[in-house]
Amino acid sequence: MSSLFSLQDHIVLVTGASRGLGLAMASAMAEAGALVVLNGREQATLDHAAAGLHARGLRAETAAFDVTDYSAAASAVAAIAQRHGRLDAVVLNAGINHRKPLLDWETADFERVVSINLTGCFVLAREAARVMIPQSSGRIIFTGSIMGIVARPTVHAYAAAKAGLGGMAKTLAVELAPRGITVNVICPGFFDTEMNTPLTQNPEFDAWVKSRCPLGRWAKPEELGGAAVFLASAAGNYVTGHMLVVDGGLTINM
Ligand SMILES: NC(=O)c1ccc[n+]([C@@H]2O[C@H](COP(=O)([O-])OP(=O)(O)OC[C@H]3O[C@@H](n4cnc5c(N)ncnc54)[C@H](OP(=O)(O)O)[C@@H]3O)[C@@H](O)[C@H]2O)c1
Repeated sequence: MSSLFSLQDHIVLVTGASRGLGLAMASAMAEAGALVVLNGREQATLDHAAAGLHARGLRAETAAFDVTDYSAAASAVAAIAQRHGRLDAVVLNAGINHRKPLLDWETADFERVVSINLTGCFVLAREAARVMIPQSSGRIIFTGSIMGIVARPTVHAYAAAKAGLGGMAKTLAVELAPRGITVNVICPGFFDTEMNTPLTQNPEFDAWVKSRCPLGRWAKPEELGGAAVFLASAAGNYVTGHMLVVDGGLTINM
């Protein structure tokens, strides 16, 4: 690994890392030398994910908490900082979707999606900054979505939260740049993960993705790892307030 992309001995927290894109990004960051702390809600699932990384000789710990339990989230960040003496990067990735035609939406469902996908990210970014400001360095990376940039029907709260991450990343980026902290958003297109099972198993939607995306296929979760390593490493030193789209060209295709 070139030192430009090295995360040797970096301490990294990845939320929503029990499976899917979070685990794929954590895995790539661990391959680059980081000690990754995997978050999700279930200790058993996290133990299984960590064991998979350990079996490959990678360093992983777990921190089970719900990102909408804001005091648990703050305590977890503080515990990581206390245990390791620093926190180099957070990948705030935990997220859910809820797909319904507008008139079938309950307000509580809107609030639930926003609390996980946006408010939880705000709280964890603030708690990470509490550790990163005194060390004068850090990387805050959000998992946004192309759905925060372009639109499909039914995903109203998800799109609002993901667009919100884009705005929030920019305000955090300008506020935290003088403290040596960069803040960026990775915006995935359509990846084959559990979240998208209803879509990958829908032949019409599957065909739509394959015809709409210039690369002609769904992305594999591991294809997001490079973006996280780039933004967390020295290679990304001068990149802040950026939305890095990883979508096989879907959003630039007319
Ligand atoms: N897949 C895609 O094509 C795609 C595209 C654009 C953006 N994204 C974004 O990428 C992120 C990951 O998506 P994915 O496809 O990997 O989804 P996934 O396979 O459903 O995984 C979601 C992860 O988030 C965790 N999680 C959910 N709610 C949580 C909570 N309240 N507190 C803590 N952890 C929680 C889950 O763990 P537990 O259930 O074990 O708690 C799991 O580890 C999401 O933010 C999603 O919006 C995905």
